[in-house]
Parts: sequence; C-alpha cells; structure tokens
Amino acid sequence: VPILVLNGPNLNRLGKREPGIYGATTLAEIEERCKAAGTRLGLSVDFRQSNHEGVLVDWIHEAADSAKGIALNAGAYTHTSVALHDAIRAVGLPTVELHLSNVHARESFRHHSYIAPAATGVIAGFGPNSYILALEALAAILIPDAA
Ligand code: DQA
Repeated sequence: VPILVLNGPNLNRLGKREPGIYGATTLAEIEERCKAAGTRLGLSVDFRQSNHEGVLVDWIHEAADSAKGIALNAGAYTHTSVALHDAIRAVGLPTVELHLSNVHARESFRHHSYIAPAATGVIAGFGPNSYILALEALAAILIPDAA
C-alpha cells in the first residue's frame, strides 16, 4: 500500500538542529527506518522533505493519485498553514499528523495546529519513533487484517 511520508521546513537539518529537542538522528536515518517499517507493515513508503509550503501542497495533491495515506510532519507550518489544512481536506486521504517533540509541552505558539482538524489523528513526542507509530496507525486503517 503506497504511503507518502511528508516532511516540512527545517527537518532536513535533523541531527544537527537543536539536538537537545530533536535528537541526533538524521532525516536520512528516519527515512531508512520508515522504509524498514513499511516492509514489515505492508506499506511502500515515498519519503520527502521540502522547506517550501507550496511544494508540500503540490505533493499532497499528487498523493491523491499516487498514495493511499499520508504521514505528515509539517514542522512550523503546522502552526501557520491554512493552505496545508485545505490541501489535506481537498485530497481526503487518511492523514496522520506527527511530531518528533511533544509540541504541547513546549512554547504556547506550538500548541495550536492547523493540521489537526483536517487529520485523522495526531502523534507527538516519541522522537523518530513518532514516524513508525504514524505508519502503524495508517496500516491499521488501510490494512485492517494486519492490525
Ligand atoms: C516539529 C514541531 C514543530 O513545532 C517545529 O516547528 C518543527 C518540528 C516536531 O517534529 O517536533 O519544525 O514538527
């Protein structure tokens, strides 16, 4: 089952970026773990990152034809982007919002998400494992017998 794992701004800097908050694991390592988990769960993972809001919108639109579900770490756009909210609504695919950090335990500007009301559900605070939990949630929705 094809899944789009989509990463927003600054996540290309993972491993170097505020390691006290985000850890030492790089985005390339997370991609590898997602692909391995995908093999175990029966999901084929298309893993992408962009720092540009419009590119993320375009990729969500593409997923309408190429994927059955989306795992989305929108980074800071989580807290700002009506466009990403609308894009998720526009394609209607099961979508899991995810974050490495527990955004609710951080600055108040991270407590509001424009993604959450358009998403199927939200996973936050488990570091790189948030990605695996998001894939497991999508597998449970899309491959009910495997759950
Ligand atoms: C993040 C949390 C966001 O608030 C932040 O802007 C990020 C990363 C996370 O994965 O914890 O860039 O989405």
